[in-house]
Amino acid sequence: MPESRCLQGIWSSPWIFIFAASGSAVGLGNIWKFPYVLGENGGGAFLVVYCLCLLLVGLPVLIAEVALGRTVRSNPIDTVNDLSERRIVHPAWVLVPWLAGITGFLILTFYSVIAGWSIAYLDRAITGGFDNITQVGASSMFNELLATPSEMLLWHSVFMVLVVLTVGQSVTRGLSAVVRILLPVLVVTLLLLACYSMMIGNMSEALNFMFRWSWQNITFDVVLAAVGLALFSLSVGMGAMFAYGAYMSKRMSIARACSIVVGVDLLVALLAGLVIFPLVFSFDIDVQADSSLTFVSLPIIFGNLLGGQFFAGVFFLLLVVAALTSAISMLELFVAWLHEKFYIARLKAALLMGMAVWFVGIAVLLSLNHWDSKLMFGLNLFELLDKFTSLILLPVGAILLSVLVAWFIPRPMLQNEMITKQANHFQWWYKTLKYISIPAMIVITLAGWIGV
Ligand code: PHE
Repeated sequence: MPESRCLQGIWSSPWIFIFAASGSAVGLGNIWKFPYVLGENGGGAFLVVYCLCLLLVGLPVLIAEVALGRTVRSNPIDTVNDLSERRIVHPAWVLVPWLAGITGFLILTFYSVIAGWSIAYLDRAITGGFDNITQVGASSMFNELLATPSEMLLWHSVFMVLVVLTVGQSVTRGLSAVVRILLPVLVVTLLLLACYSMMIGNMSEALNFMFRWSWQNITFDVVLAAVGLALFSLSVGMGAMFAYGAYMSKRMSIARACSIVVGVDLLVALLAGLVIFPLVFSFDIDVQADSSLTFVSLPIIFGNLLGGQFFAGVFFLLLVVAALTSAISMLELFVAWLHEKFYIARLKAALLMGMAVWFVGIAVLLSLNHWDSKLMFGLNLFELLDKFTSLILLPVGAILLSVLVAWFIPRPMLQNEMITKQANHFQWWYKTLKYISIPAMIVITLAGWIGV
């Protein structure tokens, strides 16, 4: 397929794909979600399962999504339409990219609220709000934020405006410049913070918790959580990487690029854990504390650190930008589709989608205070969307996308696309996807649902 066919442009250099895809992968999932899911699921045991999930499920599915995107060089919905018009696949498969797009949309409704918390914390950081804060003070600061819908609404709106303005531009332009600088800065900042946290916190207990594991702690719930997080963290199962693959230059090996993205994603998650857990243990915070873990433990470190105000400002700014580069990939599928199919200007399409997300986001943030009623399974809307997307929609989307690639797309077409220098890379990927990733995702997801 000629590169000129892609209406959204092509990443200006093969490496930019790696930065952009890492920008999508690295986000709140690594810094906010990974530490608390690790805490909830017993530490080391979860980490081992998580790494296996990244390697045996996340990576093959990521490669599948990117390869599919690059074959047709169109948005995911039109890609599948195109394949069905060429009688390569059944038209019913077009439901899969739709499901993917809806998943991205739903994730963004609560992701934006959490990104809003990060902006609220950025605001507190630069105005010295964390100075000499105690553990009790940090907990009540977070609880107060959750109890103040007007403040959450403000930051949720600011974040959505940023998302709309960024997605409204072509992602192959503005975004690349940002992520090229952001990612290295984020990694170095986290590294410095991790060193500091280990110096002042309880390093031995943290390392013990994160890296020691025993078989007994592995249950289906742990495995399901690990698969869900691996998919969420790599942004697969919802078409974001599919869309980015469409803009990828033919000169880049997909397997190589995707392996680097997985490595960066894991590195950032581990660093976030090394920043948070030494403090959690030294300040006696409950490791099983839910989603508040990051927002309670980090202010303590910054508030008691020499130059903490500066570090806190840098950290939360990076967190906001990392969330932004992830969030834009969630809207890319529908925005690219509206643009390519109906010739709606990207900015207009982004505004349309952004407003819908913003609206649902208001219900989400209200579910943390005024409307905090348990809708289903004892969960409020915020928790329900988080669990529903990562435990049901993402795995189902990933399974269907993988089945489509592994069983329905002609093998020579994929082989052509993969262009790995070693032919055995293709075999390795194809067989792993077909015989390990797909069956594993099906078994784990079903077992998790019926509560084995
Ligand atoms: N991977 C992102 C993160 O870890 C979240 C994300 C999920 C982005 C799905 C795009 C699609 O924060």
